Amino acid sequence: MTIFQAYNHTKQVLQNAGVEDVVFEAKQIIKQITGLTGAQILVQYTKELTPFQQNRLTDILRRREIRYPLQYIFGEWSFYGNEFFVGPGVLAPRPDTEILVEHALSFLQDRPCPQVLDLCAGSGCIGISIAKANPAAQVTLVEKFPETKRYLDRNLERNAVSNARSLLGDVTRGAAADKRYDLIVSNPPYISAEEMNTISPEATFEPHEALYGGQDGLDFYRAILNAYRDSLLPGGMIAFEVGRGESGAVAELLSAAGFSKIGTKQDYQEIERIVFATEVKENGTEIPH
Ligand SMILES: C[S@@+](CC[C@H](N)C(=O)[O-])C[C@H]1O[C@@H](n2cnc3c(N)ncnc32)[C@H](O)[C@@H]1O
Repeated sequence: MTIFQAYNHTKQVLQNAGVEDVVFEAKQIIKQITGLTGAQILVQYTKELTPFQQNRLTDILRRREIRYPLQYIFGEWSFYGNEFFVGPGVLAPRPDTEILVEHALSFLQDRPCPQVLDLCAGSGCIGISIAKANPAAQVTLVEKFPETKRYLDRNLERNAVSNARSLLGDVTRGAAADKRYDLIVSNPPYISAEEMNTISPEATFEPHEALYGGQDGLDFYRAILNAYRDSLLPGGMIAFEVGRGESGAVAELLSAAGFSKIGTKQDYQEIERIVFATEVKENGTEIPH
């Protein structure tokens, strides 16, 4: 089988399995099994696959046919130009989350030696990307589950970031809330009970604890705002990733907690994906559950 035939075969298998972006994935798979770049594939497309490469392709497609996440099959994934180990027990980084990193970095430009807190850190993709892009920042990443934190620690090592540290802790109990930060970022679990019935087949392989945000999907925003509302330095910013259709409700929670200068930003599909706010007004109150 030539590289070109393998590419077409891969696209067909993925299409039959109902995979969304077959062209993107087929390219990724061919790159993975051949070790070639996109440009090299274009000139070597008539080359025969080795038996080892064919076996590897068969193995990948067998797992991808049941919609096992491609990120887990590869064991690593790229996010904001950095590489992260991923696998069962950790949420695979999503491209939409890069918007949160971009917004965070532009906010930090005006703050020398900023203290940053990444809550619900998972693979560490947000906090580690911030720490790498802003070496003056000191980043603390909080994750509750030891199995997930193992990925986070391996990713800290892989990305050689000396200005970031991980902490095993529960954000609903205010882990690391005793300090003050220039920036608090979080992509918490935010899928509602109803939406959990319609998540993609790939997401069913990801940890429930990384997805489910309570009945209305907003439990973690409430808990984080209650626990961390006094943890910002003057003029500091809190920025959340939110689920589709949640931006209005999260903005209201921020306002109720006393935050002001509330804003939102859209993702690549023009969905309001991040909600952020600065400063805490004095009259903010505890948010009822
Ligand atoms: C939606 S994932 C986000 C992971 C990562 N920040 C990202 O953007 O890819 C949410 C993460 O929060 C973690 N988590 C769930 N409950 C938590 C809690 N009470 N305290 C801290 N982390 C928690 C999950 O294990 C998961 O890694």
